[in-house]
Amino acid sequence: MKLADLPRHSIPGLDGPNAPIEREAYFDKLEIIGELPADLNGVYVRNGPNPMYPPDWRYHVYDGDGMLHAAYFDRGRVSYRNRWIHTAAFEEERAAGRHLWKGLKEAPRADRPDEPQRNNSNTDVKYHAGKLLTMFYLTGVPYHVDLMTLETLGPATFGGAIGKLSAHSRPDERTGELLFFDYGKEPPYMSYGVIGADGRLKHRIPVKLPGPRLPHDMAVTENYTILHDFPLLPDAEALKLGRHKLRFEPELPSRFGIVPRYGAAGDIRWFEAKPTYMLHVANAWEEGDEIVMVGTPYRLYLDEKGQPDVARLIQTIRKRQRDFMLYEWRFDLRSGKTRERAIDDVLNSEFPIINSEYAGRKNRWSYHIVFPHGGEEEPRFTGLTKHDLETGGYQAWSEGPAFYYNEPGFARADHAQKEDDGYLVSFVWNPLEVRSEIQVFDCRGREFGRGPIARVLVPQRVPNGFHATYISRKRLDSGL
Ligand SMILES: [Fe+2]
Repeated sequence: MKLADLPRHSIPGLDGPNAPIEREAYFDKLEIIGELPADLNGVYVRNGPNPMYPPDWRYHVYDGDGMLHAAYFDRGRVSYRNRWIHTAAFEEERAAGRHLWKGLKEAPRADRPDEPQRNNSNTDVKYHAGKLLTMFYLTGVPYHVDLMTLETLGPATFGGAIGKLSAHSRPDERTGELLFFDYGKEPPYMSYGVIGADGRLKHRIPVKLPGPRLPHDMAVTENYTILHDFPLLPDAEALKLGRHKLRFEPELPSRFGIVPRYGAAGDIRWFEAKPTYMLHVANAWEEGDEIVMVGTPYRLYLDEKGQPDVARLIQTIRKRQRDFMLYEWRFDLRSGKTRERAIDDVLNSEFPIINSEYAGRKNRWSYHIVFPHGGEEEPRFTGLTKHDLETGGYQAWSEGPAFYYNEPGFARADHAQKEDDGYLVSFVWNPLEVRSEIQVFDCRGREFGRGPIARVLVPQRVPNGFHATYISRKRLDSGL
């Protein structure tokens, strides 16, 4: 295939390599350039938008029906499968043979109070209690999906306890629990809870915020949960008119609510920090009397008067431009004070992932996607990094600005001894060969910067997407 043969679409986000694909497929024994390590065994799954019917409205990438793409690694071989997430709305539209909802930039459906905006479940994917769990960033009921067949098993209500939750709710693979949060436009504006390893609701508390907020992620340590209240809020006047407009209030602090895992609403302690907005957390852990959280907040520039440049930040967020730092907050449980610092404010990178065995515990290595700066364009994911959280140093890999990487998965090696004993795997759009491939990087020491040790040729195009997860053979065997 040549680049010119790719489907063209006038809608940004659905053009060229991002054009939706039209089939669900399975391919065994994929062709490999290089050699897949024998100790790479597990499953890499990525979620993302893939509209079944061409949208006829002002399309937003979150409007697309969720589709999962999975790579199954087994002793030097790999197979691939893709499937739509058959949400309730997807099935309704498929039965009707056309769209019944429009997108986020259009008015919600007044006749469907149960689902005014379509829950596409297209944003996040995690593994919990032996199944995949797909989630939507605007919150919605999550869906259970079979890991091996990618068949949608149905809404994940956990015995009727969950009507909706947010993307970036977090499984704890040591305890088998699922820690979740939800947010909305009505008081108390947020809730937090724990699903037990038995799939039953174990704990749930209201989290009272000063008003509606747009939290995207949460952080979890072995004993605490950290909830986010950033001064980015929906504009109240626009909200009354049913429109989405963002406001950033630079005179308000960022607030982080730290609560013991099973703490009551009254146990939440709020820590204040400099105003910012952040999508994704890399990790959090306990260190003496401190809780440490690392993530990739937006950079907040100062204007000519030395004041936060709010207009620039809002434009960056609204236009889905990318301008991020790697950053650390330290919350002192004795003094109630916060210390914060940039770990790396040079490279523009986001979508941090880590070796999931270190989730909630102190770790050193974080793996990110590199972005170009600013500009009126659809986001491009142009490379990958291995960041050192202690020094702020990094190794980065890119084959050029037209390559498109995805959120990778960290694949621990069988019998791994150290945190970086493993591989980074990612679906990659290769514009030179005009194909999708899975690139595999050795993460040990300085090996990452040498580039991929293997490329797996995927027999169909994998449109670019959002979040991914990796489930190691060890975790599959543990059942958690
Ligand atoms: Fe996200």
